[in-house]
Amino acid sequence: MAEVRAQVQRDSGRAAVETAQIELRGVSKRFGSLEVLKQLSLRLERGKTTVVIGESGTGKSVLLKHIVVLLRPDEGEVYYRGERIDHLSEMELVRYRQRFGFLFQMGALFDSLTVAENVAFPLHEHTNKSSREIDAIVTEKLSMVGLDGLQSKRPAQISGGQRKRVALARAIALDPEVVLYDEPTTGLDPVRADVINELIRRLQRRIGVTGVVVTHDMTSAYKVGDRIVMLDKGRIIADGPPDDFRTTDDPRVRRFVDGRASPEDLSALDE
Ligand SMILES: Nc1ncnc2c1ncn2[C@@H]1O[C@H](COP(=O)(O)OP(=O)(O)OP(=O)(O)O)[C@@H](O)[C@H]1O
Ligand SMILES: [Mg+2]
Repeated sequence: MAEVRAQVQRDSGRAAVETAQIELRGVSKRFGSLEVLKQLSLRLERGKTTVVIGESGTGKSVLLKHIVVLLRPDEGEVYYRGERIDHLSEMELVRYRQRFGFLFQMGALFDSLTVAENVAFPLHEHTNKSSREIDAIVTEKLSMVGLDGLQSKRPAQISGGQRKRVALARAIALDPEVVLYDEPTTGLDPVRADVINELIRRLQRRIGVTGVVVTHDMTSAYKVGDRIVMLDKGRIIADGPPDDFRTTDDPRVRRFVDGRASPEDLSALDE
């Protein structure tokens, strides 16, 4: 019995190590005199959605960019499935980045390309698939986000919410293992935002995507998150399941979650 228990413990110990899809260890990043990330450590489990919340300018986008090594840490390390990636060359990183979909904060579609060409772009860049295969994938991804039929439109001809969904279709074109969403619902009405939340959940549930969602939108955070991490001035100040955030009595977290300004926030208005 004791032996069995020991074996189970060894196995679960191993499983715990293996399931970290992404790990940041002691990551610090500064821009000139501005220290943005401070010895930040974070393990992201495979197949789960982690939501990162925090005030504007606190380092959320900078954190996401470290996960795909668009930024490199000044100190600390970044691992993908146990393999260190932060010191790889740009050439070596191409292989990793294909496993990621990145929905950028600003959407960033190519204005001169059609919707279909935007979604097809990574497929032309990173695969040798034929035009016919690519067309089929484009249709499949656009259907997933509810936009099949808009293939020949240009970004300027569709709404903001539709552009976000096209950007999401492009982000998942290569069937990524991990999708990073930087404020996916910002600027959308509540119904459109909910469509995006639902897509994030489906990608996780149906395809097992590991997600990292940066957001200010607590409705979205509660809906899509298996776990919420709150950043404050480059440090993690709260980390737990959504229910912990609903009920927290930590004043800094409470204020953010309830959307209340602190006296310091308001003092700037008096000047
Ligand atoms: N490439 C860069 N060069 C210099 N400073 C930068 C760079 N990227 C980010 N910063 C600074 O780092 C800080 C954190 O930026 P970041 O974009 O991560 O904030 P954020 O938490 O995503 O904010 P928001 O919610 O407004 O998007 C900001 O003060 C920003 O000006
Ligand atoms: Mg940001």
